[in-house]
Formats: sequence, structure tokens, C-alpha cells
Amino acid sequence: MPEAAAVGSGPLLALEAVTKRFPGVTALDAVDLSVAPGRVHALVGENGAGKSTLLKIVAGAQRPDAGKLLLAGREVRFAAPRDALKAGVTVMYQELSLVPQLSAEANIFLGMEPERRGVLDRRTARARAQDALRALGAEFDPGILASDLSVAEQQLVELARALVRDARLIALDEPTAALSQVEAGRLFEQVRGLCGRGIAVIFVSHRLEEVRRIAEDVTVLRDGRRVFSSRIAAVSDAELIRHMVGRDVEYARLNAAAAPAAVPRLEVRGLTRRGHFTDVSLALRRGEIVGLAGLVGAGRTEVARCVAGADRSDGGTMLLSGAPYRPRSPREAIRRGVVYLPEDRKTQGLVLGMSVRENVTLATLERYSRRGVIRRRTEREAAARETAAVDLRPPEIEREAGTLSGGNQQKVVLAKWLLADADVLIFDEPTRGVDVATKVDLHRQVRALADAGKAILVISSELPEILALADRIVVMREGRVAGALEAAGATAERVLELALPGAHAA
Ligand SMILES: Nc1ncnc2c1ncn2[C@@H]1O[C@H](COP(=O)(O)OP(=O)(O)OP(=O)(O)O)[C@@H](O)[C@H]1O
Ligand SMILES: [Mg+2]
Repeated sequence: MPEAAAVGSGPLLALEAVTKRFPGVTALDAVDLSVAPGRVHALVGENGAGKSTLLKIVAGAQRPDAGKLLLAGREVRFAAPRDALKAGVTVMYQELSLVPQLSAEANIFLGMEPERRGVLDRRTARARAQDALRALGAEFDPGILASDLSVAEQQLVELARALVRDARLIALDEPTAALSQVEAGRLFEQVRGLCGRGIAVIFVSHRLEEVRRIAEDVTVLRDGRRVFSSRIAAVSDAELIRHMVGRDVEYARLNAAAAPAAVPRLEVRGLTRRGHFTDVSLALRRGEIVGLAGLVGAGRTEVARCVAGADRSDGGTMLLSGAPYRPRSPREAIRRGVVYLPEDRKTQGLVLGMSVRENVTLATLERYSRRGVIRRRTEREAAARETAAVDLRPPEIEREAGTLSGGNQQKVVLAKWLLADADVLIFDEPTRGVDVATKVDLHRQVRALADAGKAILVISSELPEILALADRIVVMREGRVAGALEAAGATAERVLELALPGAHAA
């Protein structure tokens, strides 16, 4: 529906009946979309709905099979990302695309060095890069290597890239998935600023509260089709979710089937890693899910990494079923049944160039080999079973992992560890980048794992998730345990009270 800001100028970008097919799947099916200048248009939908594909077409990284793109009323055909950039269209992908070995500044000008009398003018380049970064509130030196920047900083470099090219449209694909809440808040301010300059923004996210904060308009994709568009203020979350998944979805509190075992499977006593966390104690029983809550930076991931053998602690003890446990490597931890599913699954958990099957069986390959020969059939069956359990879409185990949608790549990592039948599982932000319906499915799976006798620790920044999933909640604050709550009586307020610096502990 047309809005005040768009009147007179018309949409900046319009897609008309855009279709994109891949072997076996129609990623976009005659999709129409209209994006107004100076506004944020959210694009939402389940994993694999076609959001990233749409952005790639807008960016000229992929060509539509049918349909057209209009920029400010004129049809455009982008043969390559370069053409889109020239027309003022920039896309920031799920996986950032900076060249790590180049400086921030060099990345900003990549492909368009400003020239003076045909000679590269480094001074002008540096000044313009500095201006753009300063306008975005960046505090680092433009000469710093991209690989030395945090994700949030790399995003600023990508935005600066767009600014020096006088972008008219910026599309962001799940930009907050790897950001802390503070960083996300800062990014939103920058996005607002861009809108103030009349730039149109397309914003992809699975977090509806975030979509509500930042966007004016919303479009829902489902199985490659546009099923709904509206002003965001005119639609409820429940309605949006119904459009996304075609049914009602709710977080349900999932209770344990039986009382957890009496003896802890894993016990952590007074664990300390200097500079990271201090005197952390917790116990994990079979059949139980313990939630580790806290703000980003509270030390949760650091604790998990020590338990999983990725880092060494310098104080305290750990016990596995009462026996001393001091893993010197993740391999040793895995051998003893302890597995950590990292937050950053894309870089730490998945080999994008390998097939789904190879990824899933990577950690357990010795099981399918006899005298060095891999028994393919058994391997395939195992991979097929575990990927079905996580509802991989499409359910093709020979597909290259890199061609799966972001959320489905995460499911592959989970399938891998389910197969490894580890019995102490540590999930770090397990549903980040996962759509609402899949999230509820994953919650059920995690509960089923607990009911099957595994001991589970879940780190999550999403309070509703912790409250729905955990039997007990341990809250960390600034590297220490601030308190523990039985989940039955816990509320979001109570958890926050413990998690926030300055608030006093129980
Ligand atoms: N290069 C490719 N080759 C084959 N199939 C692809 C390719 N890229 C995407 N697809 C398929 O197209 C469909 C849409 O994928 P897309 O990445 O656009 O989803 P998405 O909405 O961004 O999902 P997510 O929320 O998980 O990131 C999926 O079925 C995906 O497997
Ligand atoms: Mg995507």
C-alpha cells in the first residue's frame, strides 16, 4: 500500500514477477516487491523462503529467470554486482564479503579507486573513507586490516562502502545475527540515519521484535512466493507468523518427562579463567536442561569453551560422573562425550564446500569405516536419518552445504552432533538465524535429547527461549554466577534482575 513518503517519488525499487529457479527448487516464484525511498522494508520468512536469493538478484549477483527490476521507475538489468553498485544498490550479505587481507579503507574502495590524472590518489581515498566511517560512528583506523575488525566493525566498513558510492538502496541480510544487543542498537541508529538521507533499506531478519523496531513496511515470503505485504504497524506478530509458516506457532514450556538423575553427569566447581570468568560452579544431570543466561559478554561462551576443551581454565575442577575431567582439547572432550555447538556455526562448524552427508558424518567417520574403507551405504543412511530428524530442507544429503539457506546450514551442524551421540551437549545460541517454526521444532528436539538421558546446557540471549526450554537457569553477570533459578517459577524480570550489572544478586 502506498505511503506518504513514497507519494510523488514512487517506489525506488520495484520487482515485478521475479522468478528464480535452482535445480529442484523454485527459490522465487513471480515475486512482486515495492521498496520506498527513505524507508526500511523488512523481508521475513522461514529458512529457505527465498530472502537471500531475492537480495542476490537485487545486487546483480544472480540473474532472474523471469520478471524485471525497476529502479526509480526504469527497468534495469544487472549483469554483475558491479552494475548494481554503479546504480547505487548495495547488499550486505549473511556472510560478510570483505577481503580479510585488505585494510578497511582498501575494502571501501575496492573496484572503484578514486583517480586523479589517472593516478591512484591515496590521500583523497583515505580522506573519503575516513569521512564515511566517521559519519557512521566508527572508532577504528581506516588502515586496519579487515580481519582484525569485529563483525559489527566489518558491517560499518560495508556501510561505508555503500556511502562512498552514493547508495540509493542498501539491503541487509540478517545483519544482527552475530551482534550483541548494544551493537545491534548502534547499527539501527546508522540505518535510521541512512533513511534520513532518503536511502531505501531492505532488512532481512528472523527477529520480529527487531523488525518492529526498525522497519515501516514488511513483506512475507513463503516457499518463494510473496504471501503478504503491509505496513508493519498494521499487523500483529501472530498474523505475521501465520503468514510465514501457514499455521499458528507458539513457544510452549516443555517439561522433563522424568526427574533428572541424582548424580550430576557434569560438575563444574569454582572454575576460573583469568580475565574471562571467576569461580563458576554448576551441575548438569542426565535428563536435565540447564539454561545459561546473561548478557553478551557475561562469560557464558568462555565457560562453555573450557568445559569443551577449547580453552584451558586456570582454577577450579570439573568432574564427569564423579571422575576427574580436565580436557586438553576438544577432541579429548568429544571422546568423553562432551560436545560444544558453537555460536558461530558458519565458520566453526561447517565445511561449505563439502556435501551435507560429508559434514554430518565428519565427526563419526571411523564408525563407517572398516580397515580404512568407508561403508558408504551405512554412512548415507546415518546422514539421511539425522538430517530428517532436524527437518533439513531440501532433504538432499548430496547437496553442497554452501548452497543451503543459512538456517538450514545450522541444522546440518546440529545433525552432525546428534549423530556423534555425545551425552553432554552444550548449545550456544542454538536458534540464532533459525525461523520461528523451526525454533519450536528444535526446542522439542533438545527436550527429546534430554528425555533420552543426555545432559544439556543451553546458552541463549533470548529469554523466552531459556524460559521455555530450561529446567534450571543459571545466570551469569560480568564473569560470575549471579544466581540460579528453578525455571518453573522464573520470569524474564527475575532473570534480568540477576543479569544486569548494578542490580544486586540474590
Ligand atoms: N546456489 C544455489 N544452488 C541451489 N539452490 C539454492 C542456491 N541458493 C539458494 N538455493 C535454494 O533456494 C531456496 C531459497 O534459499 P535462500 O537462501 O534464498 O533462503 P532464505 O530465505 O535466505 O533462508 P534463511 O532464512 O535460512 O537464510 C532454498 O531452497 C535454497 O536451498
Ligand atoms: Mg538467507
